This record gives sequence, structure tokens and C-alpha cells, in this order.
Amino acid sequence: MTDGEAGPIRGLDEGEAHLWWVRPDEVDPARLDQGRDLLTTAELERVGRFRRAADQRSCLVTRILVRTTLSRYVNVPPERWRFRTNAYGRPEIESPVSSLRFNLSHTEGLVVCLVSRNREVGVDVEATSRAHRGLEVAERYFSPREAAALRATRPSAQPDRFLQFWTLKESYIKARGLGLAIPLAAFTFDLPAEESAAIRLQIEPTLGDDPGRWQFTLGRLGAGHLVATAVDGRGGPPVVIVRRPATELGQPGGATTL
Ligand SMILES: CC(C)(COP(=O)(O)OP(=O)(O)OC[C@H]1O[C@@H](n2cnc3c(N)ncnc32)[C@H](O)[C@@H]1OP(=O)(O)O)[C@@H](O)C(=O)NCCC(=O)NCCS
Repeated sequence: MTDGEAGPIRGLDEGEAHLWWVRPDEVDPARLDQGRDLLTTAELERVGRFRRAADQRSCLVTRILVRTTLSRYVNVPPERWRFRTNAYGRPEIESPVSSLRFNLSHTEGLVVCLVSRNREVGVDVEATSRAHRGLEVAERYFSPREAAALRATRPSAQPDRFLQFWTLKESYIKARGLGLAIPLAAFTFDLPAEESAAIRLQIEPTLGDDPGRWQFTLGRLGAGHLVATAVDGRGGPPVVIVRRPATELGQPGGATTL
């Protein structure tokens, strides 16, 4: 271990990635108030810039979630983490230096944080209440094959199918750390008919990426949300995605503290 490193990682095997999830409405308001003390001034200002109380709460929960989640794995107090963003806006750990990697996603009613050791990860959640047919969006932005697959889907199933493509596509661009700098038409998902079958990805050579290194999952969190994960599997055995509730936001003694 070199000076400034976070120390040994507890409870997170290299063959796993942990998906911590929280519904902001279910968090104890007293915990949220305490959690404010963990944030930097810049983070608190960011929370304050949201007009709607629900957006403020979601942003606050996100910031507390990422700090308390990382501190489950190493002996670093939640307030001590410092973050930087890459050129495309992805938050990453700046200090203490750590092999932990994470990615965040938030939508109406849900915030998630996917954590791994030394593996690039991306996660996206979407509320199914936001589903709409999406065919126009798909025809404009998705790859031709994805748009055709959606067109071939019966109309009543299109909103859900569209959202499945969307969450998967977001999980990939987020795992790459490039966000919407990657054209959404430059890579194509094939969604298997069987939910248990592997989700396949094809990537245009211009993106300079090997689709074989990525592993994807697509599922539901409760009735109201879709969640997709993308993990760099490096061509190895499947990385297990372990779901963990974080409603107590790292509070010592809470049911989900590792
Ligand atoms: C990454 C992006 C392509 C997709 O975002 P999205 O699907 O609309 O929203 P998600 O909630 O799934 O993802 C946003 C999170 O992804 C992360 N992110 C941002 N840029 C990213 C990138 N280039 N690569 C990977 N992750 C990124 C951030 O943690 C961000 O949340 P944060 O700003 O609260 O830290 C991009 O459009 C984005 O960052 N959007 C909005 C972020 C936002 O509104 N933040 C305010 C809440 S406090």
C-alpha cells in the first residue's frame, strides 16, 4: 500500500459488483439531516440549486449514498472521500487512492450506486412510469437494428421494450465513462427473448472497444423501475451482481451495514 491509499477492501470480491439501492422517500429525515454533515460545501450548494423538494432530496441521498457506500468497504470516514469528474462528467474517486470503482444513477423514486473492485462499471435506472412508445426516439438515435426490433414489437409492449434498450444503452455509455459523447447508433443490443439468456452487444469499430469484455444485466427493482448494469468482465467468468438495500444510508447498526 502506498501513502494515501484507502487500505484493504472488505467484503467485495473481485468476482462481484454490489448494487446499492435506496428510495429517497423511505429515508428517515433525521438521517438525511445528519448526512448533510458528510457533504462538501460544493455538494451542499448543488443540492440547494434544485427547486423541487423531491429533487433536492434525491440529490442529497445520492451524495450521502456514494460516500457511505464506499466507506463500507474501506476504513475511510464517509466525509473524507474526495471526488473529481472526468472530462465527460463521470465522478471518480480522487482521494484516498483506491481500487474501488463506482457509478451512480437516479430517477423518480430511486437512487442506485454500483460498486466494484478495479472494474469499470455503469448503471442506469429508469422509472417505468416514464415509458412511452419511444419509436421516434429509437428511429432517430438508436442503431437501425434496434429501431427495427422495436418496430417489430407489438405496440402494447413497445414502451417497456424501448425502456429496456434505453437503460442498457445508458449503462454501456456510463461504464465507458464517455456519456453521450458516444453516438447511441454506434452500438447495438440484441435483447434475448428468454430473460435468462445473455444480452449481446455489437460495437462499430469506430468506437475502438471489444464487446466481448462487457457483461450486462437487465432487471427490475420493484414494480416501478428498470435497472441495467454494465461490468467489465475482461472475458472472464460472469461477475455476480449483488443487490443490497441502503435505506439506512450507512448508519452504524443499520440492517445492511456489512
Ligand atoms: C451520464 C448521462 C449520459 C446520463 O445521465 P441520466 O441517465 O440522465 O442520469 P443518471 O441518473 O442515470 O446518471 C447520472 C449520473 O451518472 C454519472 N455520470 C455523469 N457523467 C457520466 C459519464 N460521462 N460517464 C459515467 N457516468 C456519468 C454521475 O454520477 C451522474 O449523477 P450525479 O451528477 O448526481 O453524480 C448524462 O447525461 C448526465 O450526467 N446527466 C444528468 C446528471 C444530473 O442531472 N445530475 C444532477 C443530480 S444531483
